[in-house]
Amino acid sequence: MANAWFETVAEAQRRAQKRLPKSVYAALLAGTEKGLTLADNLAAFDELGFAPHLVDLPAHRDMATTVMGQDIPMPVIISPTGVQAVHPDGEVAVARAAAARGIPIGLSSFASKPLEDVVAANPQTFFQSYWMGTRDVMTEHLERARKGGAVGLILTLDWTFAHRRDWGSPHIPERMNLREMLRLAPEGLSRPKWLYAFAKTGRLPDLTVPNMAAPGARPPTFFGAYADWMQSPLPTWDDVAWLREHWGAPFLLKGVIRVDDARRAVDAGVTAISVSNHGGNNLDGTPAAIRALPAIAEAVGDQIEVLLDGGIRRGSDVVKAVALGARAVMIGRAYLWGLAANGQAGVENSLDILRGGIDSALLGLGRSSIHDLAPSDLVIAREFQRALGVPQ
Ligand SMILES: Cc1cc2nc3c(=O)[nH]c(=O)nc-3n(C[C@H](O)[C@H](O)[C@H](O)COP(=O)(O)O)c2cc1C
Repeated sequence: MANAWFETVAEAQRRAQKRLPKSVYAALLAGTEKGLTLADNLAAFDELGFAPHLVDLPAHRDMATTVMGQDIPMPVIISPTGVQAVHPDGEVAVARAAAARGIPIGLSSFASKPLEDVVAANPQTFFQSYWMGTRDVMTEHLERARKGGAVGLILTLDWTFAHRRDWGSPHIPERMNLREMLRLAPEGLSRPKWLYAFAKTGRLPDLTVPNMAAPGARPPTFFGAYADWMQSPLPTWDDVAWLREHWGAPFLLKGVIRVDDARRAVDAGVTAISVSNHGGNNLDGTPAAIRALPAIAEAVGDQIEVLLDGGIRRGSDVVKAVALGARAVMIGRAYLWGLAANGQAGVENSLDILRGGIDSALLGLGRSSIHDLAPSDLVIAREFQRALGVPQ
């Protein structure tokens, strides 16, 4: 059998593309409209370089920190994604892999596995929710998350309900019925390893979202839940403060790009924010998250935890983000490609790649701890600054 281990996240992505049906791969690649933000999330890291030392380097490098009250061995956590059709074990495989490396997982409300199963695999689970329905409906979601054992809540608010992809959105069925199976059969049959992994479990992706229903109740379909969400009244800052108060435990607001919003998040009492543009899946033309990070970290980094989310593919990217003021990073596609390439072991492989890369960058920079990293460790190209003019 060919070696399942991969050396870089880029290689995991290549294997994911080979292994996944075309529409499943496309749903992970995602990106809205022209894909400007998706591309910038990656390109911006290339505008940040290093100026390494070569003597007096530290023999030991410390990467441990905490995020939302959780001890973590390196400054990385799993961002929530709906991983419906990537792998039969889905979020449970991700949770196991993350637990094996001591890393918390953000579980999407659109996930394919129940929160309880994910918490059993990884007690360091943060439940992610959008603002759905009324305060009463949100209270039900919170109760479910609390009872299910979530140790923190992630509220994601950067969503504008549109894709308009220039490259064409993949067809995602509402339900797996005979008609859909016939329609998707050629794609599935062209990816026998993926199909076999599902066939072994005796089921196909069922495309329901169990965490949107009361435990044990029949879960709605992905699109059913999405339609309810679309009809929800849009939240105000008062709603955010109310939710934070009502939750009463660590709370992260995901999707902040502007300094003024970061300040309002502080006023709303959040524990943490993630500087994020939803991995380029929301409003196209939003600058790379890493470009928005320094001004936000400077403005609120001493009051709340500031995380960076978007474009992390290497350990050196993590180091760049921490040097620019992030307490830690959240990763999305870096683990999704690993999951697609090799299940739980693939996610562990991706996390190990990041860990190794963080360690090498610390070594080269002559830093014995991530806590000593500073902007002066980076060589920052002039172009990088251009988007720091995001309104203050
Ligand atoms: C396939 C896919 C599904 C996603 N689903 C969610 C979700 O359900 N909730 C959420 O808050 N963010 C979601 N995101 C955004 C991720 O949490 C994260 O912000 C993004 O992937 C970070 O960018 P990266 O992939 O470059 O690391 C999703 C992203 C992808 C790629």
